[in-house]
Amino acid sequence: MPRLGATTTTLTSTARAVMERHLHRDGYTVPSALVYPWQWLWDSAFHAIAWNALDRPDRALVELDTLLGCQRRDGFVPHIRYHGPSPHADFWKLPDTSAITQPPMYGHAIARLHRAGVDIPTGLLERARQGFDFLLRHRARVDGLVSVVHPWETGADNSPRWDHWVDGHFSLDRWWVVKGELVRSIMPSDAGAPISNSAFACAPAGFNALVAFNALELAWVTDDEHLQRDALEIVDRLDVSWSAEAGTWVDVGDSGHGSGRVRTLDALLPLLVSRRPVAVRSAIDQLLDPCAFAATYGPTGVHRAEEVFRPDQYWRGSAWPQLTYLLWWAARNRGEARLEESLRTSARRGAARSRMAEHWHPDDGTGLGAVPQSWSALVVAMA
Ligand code: GLC
Repeated sequence: MPRLGATTTTLTSTARAVMERHLHRDGYTVPSALVYPWQWLWDSAFHAIAWNALDRPDRALVELDTLLGCQRRDGFVPHIRYHGPSPHADFWKLPDTSAITQPPMYGHAIARLHRAGVDIPTGLLERARQGFDFLLRHRARVDGLVSVVHPWETGADNSPRWDHWVDGHFSLDRWWVVKGELVRSIMPSDAGAPISNSAFACAPAGFNALVAFNALELAWVTDDEHLQRDALEIVDRLDVSWSAEAGTWVDVGDSGHGSGRVRTLDALLPLLVSRRPVAVRSAIDQLLDPCAFAATYGPTGVHRAEEVFRPDQYWRGSAWPQLTYLLWWAARNRGEARLEESLRTSARRGAARSRMAEHWHPDDGTGLGAVPQSWSALVVAMA
């Protein structure tokens, strides 16, 4: 058997073993048994994609069903579901979920299942639509883009994009305090859903790209013209925030003239949806350039030339499999074969070398964070 075949078989069986090990008896998959033993929003959508690639569409559907099972009346989907009393109930002021959301990756997960011929229950499609209703109609906007009420909502917890809120001087201790304070200033709606945060006026490029991308994916499945129109409005607004000078899509809001311009990988996610050719070209070139983001086990989480680039630190430069997967999907759909192949190969190498870690060093593949972590199984869906 050719070597590549053997490697692929091994990676698939390792991914399957990680997913099986993290499958909870209630049908959802935990990101990590030790570090993250609950259900997370965007993780769950990635798990659904991985389960489907592992020929278990039944599990993919249960994953999405349990995820959207904690949705509130107005469509809000919390970022953590504890499936029982929450150990952090005092922190969130809620009994069984968190009080913030995360990127609505269920739109793309549903579309990938649909493309694979899986029948999606109508109830699931409807709940997904309501999720976008919340984000597009109830969530506060900043200058036309969808705001986040807390950095954790982006999934990119310690990104240098938030350094504005520590006056440009990031340290883990300071950031820990500020992150806690920012939870306390979240403004909820009458129904208890998070709407805005006066201490954190920010509409990140990466988050908006994921809102628009997932809405477009769902709109394609359900043939929903209204949702498609709303999503394209975000795409066009997002493209206004491309800065040729900075070489990135810039976050809109308080950090727009400061840390909101740091070249992070998640800020290139508009590549999924952008209609601005110069921006698209620049993003692709940067992802292929070893002096920018490209790496053997990469791409790097932060552009190498940024002063804050730290390849071994959480959200400050390491490689993340779920971001690599998303950029691979963008490259694939744009017919950028060289980028598609380089992202696919580096993600697979990284997952194997890091032993399916949460994230890893982009240049040597050393596993970082939780090892193993379920979303590294996404590499089986990159084919
Ligand atoms: C960390 C990550 C976040 C992820 C969670 C569970 O908090 O930053 O993106 O959803 O872990 O894996």
